[in-house]
Amino acid sequence: MKRIGIVGTGSYLPEKVLTNYDLEKIVDTSDEWIYTRTGIKERRVAAPDQAASDLAKIASERALEAAGMKPEEIELIIMATITPDTHCPAGANWLEAKLGAVNAVSMDITAACTGFIFALSVAEQYLKNGTFRNALVVASEVMTRTVDWTDRTSCILWGDGAGAVVLKEVDGDSGILSIHIHTDGANGDSLLLPGGGSKTTPISHESVDRKLHFLRMIEANHSFKVAVKRFSEACEEAVAHNGITLDDVKVIIPHQANLRIIQGMAKKLGVPMEKVFVNIERYGNMSSATVPVALDEAVRRGIVRKGDLVLLTAFGGGLTWGSALIRW
Ligand code: UT7
Repeated sequence: MKRIGIVGTGSYLPEKVLTNYDLEKIVDTSDEWIYTRTGIKERRVAAPDQAASDLAKIASERALEAAGMKPEEIELIIMATITPDTHCPAGANWLEAKLGAVNAVSMDITAACTGFIFALSVAEQYLKNGTFRNALVVASEVMTRTVDWTDRTSCILWGDGAGAVVLKEVDGDSGILSIHIHTDGANGDSLLLPGGGSKTTPISHESVDRKLHFLRMIEANHSFKVAVKRFSEACEEAVAHNGITLDDVKVIIPHQANLRIIQGMAKKLGVPMEKVFVNIERYGNMSSATVPVALDEAVRRGIVRKGDLVLLTAFGGGLTWGSALIRW
């Protein structure tokens, strides 16, 4: 059986920083409330002329450089996003053109905050069955364009960013050991962006007035509990499938939605927080981009080294959740 591995990582965060103190000037909130409830201190905001494919382009170029590859060598591009430049063409099509990946076929995957793990699993299958020899998997989100800046319960959470990896067949013990993905469509309305799809077209003055084009979280503290449960299940599933324990894992890289969710997961799993990679303080929730951005930081900072077992896990809208176990 072919083993597919990550041979390069990259990420990009827009320059503009929006701190909790900046948010204090926009809505009735405080740095103290945001930090203690979420672990977030600041987040990045894309420039007005930057769309998801622009963030993805820089992250992808960095991943390709790390992999020692040129854009024209890429055969498959999968972009995870819920904030594509346009619904048609796909965000990945724009990215393909901007990168000059003239020999690639490109497509988007929509699985909200779990998007990167879903995209990784699709790309892995294409590479295993030999349809393509390599793939660029990128997650890119401009979440701040979906935010209602008058809603203090949600506008404090989100940020913009992109992370990318290059996949290829690898030798030896390294590579992706397993990926598990799950969905629960029956409970999807707790994390919802109601407008802009076929349900509300044509987009009307009324749909804008009713704020249907903003991301909503209904019963966010219920989502909080479900997230802790699903993160933990996904991690346990990954180690059980591979006949190992969490003691064998060097670092767990979870989706960064809320520091307290991550701490709840660590407690439920019985793992020390030192084993869990956290960067939510600087970037907030970048939906699908949080996991590959964190992975890239962990790799570049030498936290993840050759031979280490890395466990990625995410939960988000859909509902969607999953995990990927990788030997570096
Ligand atoms: O990425 C996908 C997965 N993400 C999620 O599933 C999100 C999960 N949920 C969460 O992260 C948390 O539920 C939140 C951070 C969204 C909210 O934290 P919480 O501890 O659940 O707070 P809460 O909603 O129970 O609100 C507590 C209080 C309320 O006031 P009252 O009703 O107790 O008087 C809110 O009105 O805090 C108030 N509040 C705020 N106060 C200051 C809500 N937002 C703010 C704010 N600043 N920004």
